[in-house]
Amino acid sequence: MKYGHFDDTNREYVITNPKTPYPWINYLGNEDFFSLTSNTGGGYTFYKDAKFRRLTRYRYNNVPVDNGGKYFYIKDGDTTWSPGWKPVKTELDSYECRHGMSYTKFKSSKNGVEAQILQFIPLGFWGEIQKVSLKNTSSETKKLKLFSFIEWCLWNAEDDMTNFQRNFSTGEVEIEDSTIYHKTEFKERRNHYAFYSVNTSIDGYDTDRESFLGLYNDFDSPDVVNDGAPKNTIAHGWSPIASHYVEIELKPGEQRDLIFMLGYVEVEKDDKWESKAVINKKPAKAMLAKFDTVEKVDVAYNDLRAYWDRLLGKINIDSGDDRLDRMVNIWNQYQCMVTFNMSRSASFFESGIGRGMGFRDSNQDLIGFVHQIPERARERIFDIASTQFEDGSCYHQYQPLTKKGNSAVGGDFNDDPLWLILSTTEYIKETGDFSLLDEMVPFDNDVSRAKPHFEHLKASFYHVVNNLGPHNLPLIGRADWNDCLNLNCFSDNPNESFQTTGNKKGNTAESLMIAGLFVVYGKEYVKLCKRIDNDKEAEEAQKHVENMIEAVKVHGWDGDWYLRAYDFFGNKIGSNENEEGKIFIESQGWCTMAEIGKKEGMVEKSLNAVKKHLDCDYGIVLNSPAFTKYHIEYGEISTYPAGYKENGGIFCHNNPWIMIGETVLGRGDQAYEYYTKIAPSFLEDISELHKVEPYVYCQMIAGKEAFKPGEAKNSWLSGTASWNFFAITQYILGVKTDYDGLVIDPCIPSKWDGFKMQREFRGAKYNIEVQNPDHVSKGIKTIFVNGSEIESKVVPILEKGKEHSVKVIMG
Ligand code: BGC
Ligand code: NOJ
Repeated sequence: MKYGHFDDTNREYVITNPKTPYPWINYLGNEDFFSLTSNTGGGYTFYKDAKFRRLTRYRYNNVPVDNGGKYFYIKDGDTTWSPGWKPVKTELDSYECRHGMSYTKFKSSKNGVEAQILQFIPLGFWGEIQKVSLKNTSSETKKLKLFSFIEWCLWNAEDDMTNFQRNFSTGEVEIEDSTIYHKTEFKERRNHYAFYSVNTSIDGYDTDRESFLGLYNDFDSPDVVNDGAPKNTIAHGWSPIASHYVEIELKPGEQRDLIFMLGYVEVEKDDKWESKAVINKKPAKAMLAKFDTVEKVDVAYNDLRAYWDRLLGKINIDSGDDRLDRMVNIWNQYQCMVTFNMSRSASFFESGIGRGMGFRDSNQDLIGFVHQIPERARERIFDIASTQFEDGSCYHQYQPLTKKGNSAVGGDFNDDPLWLILSTTEYIKETGDFSLLDEMVPFDNDVSRAKPHFEHLKASFYHVVNNLGPHNLPLIGRADWNDCLNLNCFSDNPNESFQTTGNKKGNTAESLMIAGLFVVYGKEYVKLCKRIDNDKEAEEAQKHVENMIEAVKVHGWDGDWYLRAYDFFGNKIGSNENEEGKIFIESQGWCTMAEIGKKEGMVEKSLNAVKKHLDCDYGIVLNSPAFTKYHIEYGEISTYPAGYKENGGIFCHNNPWIMIGETVLGRGDQAYEYYTKIAPSFLEDISELHKVEPYVYCQMIAGKEAFKPGEAKNSWLSGTASWNFFAITQYILGVKTDYDGLVIDPCIPSKWDGFKMQREFRGAKYNIEVQNPDHVSKGIKTIFVNGSEIESKVVPILEKGKEHSVKVIMG
């Protein structure tokens, strides 16, 4: 069953039934100021950091789901309704929610009144606009009462939902004209406030939640709305809100547009006050003046659309299958931007107070984003690298506001350092900008310890070399990519965290996943060293890579697939000898991508084993059989019910590793089949089962051993977005960035006749047309660049500012 449809021309998903199987959300904002918004008007807004600068309240894990948002109540005679359906939930005559590129639109109607809301954050602006248009489509004059509603969060979202003894006495607001200012704690150390305004004179307001709602009411039935009259309350403590009241009379056919703005202001410490206890409103007023007319708002909205046209214009395909085209051209790229911005901090599954930016996560997010705005990727690489230590190890995450590393979920995840080589080399390949290697980048955020960025890559590489275990394989540390394979934490205490408790010495347990990862990015490191004429270092590093390949062949091969790890006692994990967890996806992915033992048939055997043991109708599960009992020496992985999360769930992030592995063998049919199993647009028809948005990837789909196979969770913020984009564009469609040009080597389903891709690269536009007359999956017969045949698969860097034709004949 479907709950809407794609509108590819407008790059929107159109939801036509508000009762989606889970809230289907969108993200507004592109750089500093963000909102999450659901298809029924739920969600919240923050500046830079969803924990430290939360502007509005949202109630996670509430009953019913999705409680709190930017609500509107329209009172028309005895009927009250909301354009987003919630919170009032009056049955609407029509309803439509369009989630687009950084904007959301609602259009609904009831009893001859049509309401439209356009919600977005103008580029470079610290405020969110809601253009609300009300139209009388009936033949009688309508007298409407409109109430807006948001609830202020007292800035620190975590404190806001715990520290009530303090918070219930601190809330403060100011009201001037049509603007409600939220200034809690402004008197003390804060130099920022927020405001909610509308570009018309108002007929009343409320700022005290209890007075507005009534203590025992839900959001669906506020006292003030029921009475049809505001109380003009001024909040003192408790829970401050902002609600405007506007009376609107509409003749038949008449429409009125109102512009609401939710804004955020920072002022200089000595410029905080206008007069005693009155905040300096000048900056807020300047913001309001920028968007006080429909014309100004429409210009900003068109700018935003043009911005996305530009971004999405950089890679564009025509494959003949709309489902694939809309993933590659629109939604997957869009999701990559969102994950780049948010890391794992704020979604409907991430509360915005827990995890900040992840070292491993942000590096990986970059590979799906770097072609969009390389300058931002460059800055991000330095932010991440600055949290690293001299020995290559790193904080696992950092807070976006402070950019400082924190140990909230522990450290010593021994895969972490290697991802920096991935992000850096992908950045250089996209841009040709080697200069970042020479930039001075601090260690542990201490500028006095800064070294050229290249030294960070070196530290990353040698962190593995210097931390090998008994089989000369990489020590796993606290965990590798799989956070839940906790081989040094033997926990029998439910009150401790698997992520931070390392109660065993970590010098025995080894990871085959890191081994494969090391070979892949070790080779990249060697290649980079050669490029920058550091041959000595290249030679030295090459030896370590070869040693690792050897160690995997000797100690990491189980006969039909690669082992996953050695545990604390030196026992095999992911071996046919094990009763549960005989085979794992991560080491098959990385060791096949690294082509370890390809000659000896290991790659092929491994991938065949994946197909046989891990593949199912909904994707490739992480391990099999899933653990059914708790293995103290494996940690969190064995705590999950079978089929969920890292225990036999389809962890969508690592499926593309197998797709890429398949392309190493040239098996395009298999690679693409795996792709279509988890790509959301291909799952639209099973939305009821799948549950989460059909336009973005989720982290996990319940696996074959789960109670409900195919049911998904944790949409939006997952490395799944960037890895699938990377796999489909660079390995399946096979247009890969490299230092000297674009390497073209598709690995596609044999029945395809070909495809087209437009790719902006180093300032030039490449119009690539791939033809597949012999219906092969892989192999290039000839490539013509601007009409002349070239010798290799590398299409060179061509003249900037021009369009170039690249014709590729497979065979
Ligand atoms: C989850 C992982 C997550 C980790 C760190 C674990 O409980 O299963 O997916 O990465 O916690 O927050
Ligand atoms: C989610 C984390 O964000 C990511 O870093 C990790 O690799 C996966 N969980 C797998 O455990």
